[in-house]
Amino acid sequence: MSDVLIISAAPSHAAPTGVVVEHVAEVLRAAGHRVSLLDVRSLPTLSLLTEDLRDPEIAQAVSSVLSADGVVVASPVYRAAYSGLVKALLDLLPKKALRGRAVLPLATGGSQGFLVAMDYALHPLLAAKGADQVVRGEFVLDQNVGSADSAAALDAAADRFCAQLTPRLRKVS
Ligand SMILES: Cc1cc2nc3c(=O)[nH]c(=O)nc-3n(C[C@H](O)[C@H](O)[C@H](O)COP(=O)(O)O)c2cc1C
Repeated sequence: MSDVLIISAAPSHAAPTGVVVEHVAEVLRAAGHRVSLLDVRSLPTLSLLTEDLRDPEIAQAVSSVLSADGVVVASPVYRAAYSGLVKALLDLLPKKALRGRAVLPLATGGSQGFLVAMDYALHPLLAAKGADQVVRGEFVLDQNVGSADSAAALDAAADRFCAQLTPRLRKVS
């Protein structure tokens, strides 16, 4: 059993990204992992944007990343990149915070052409935070969210992530 943190930039639970996150969380729980959800939108906005690590909620958010064995990063594609919520959250973290952790990127978008945003926007951001075990993620078209095809693709992505998960012996950054 591993500790998995899902960083979600969904604007709401019912939004496409929120639905994708809920599906993957259920699959990971069914696989026996402890899954926590970090809804970035619920963090105190001013403290998030000013990187106020003295704010207990911000400190807790950072600590939850640093203690996770694996991290799922889920974001809608906005303006050909990731949501600003993802960037704001990752900016809080130490430079190489994702090193040694399995990372699964997930994205939703309105146009298939923006699949490339995962490669040219999200992956470089994750790499800048030291991510060296990035599992092939999944891009889900918003019109396909909830479909059998997208569920199967997300199940496969979750399986790849599970295969990469190893409990960390020392929970440090
Ligand atoms: C401000 C904004 C910008 C968007 N930009 C893009 C884009 O560049 N490429 C794309 O494929 N979809 C784009 N979309 C569509 C969303 O990525 C898509 O509807 C997604 O599923 C929304 O997920 P959410 O409801 O969880 O935010 C945009 C949506 C919004 C609201």
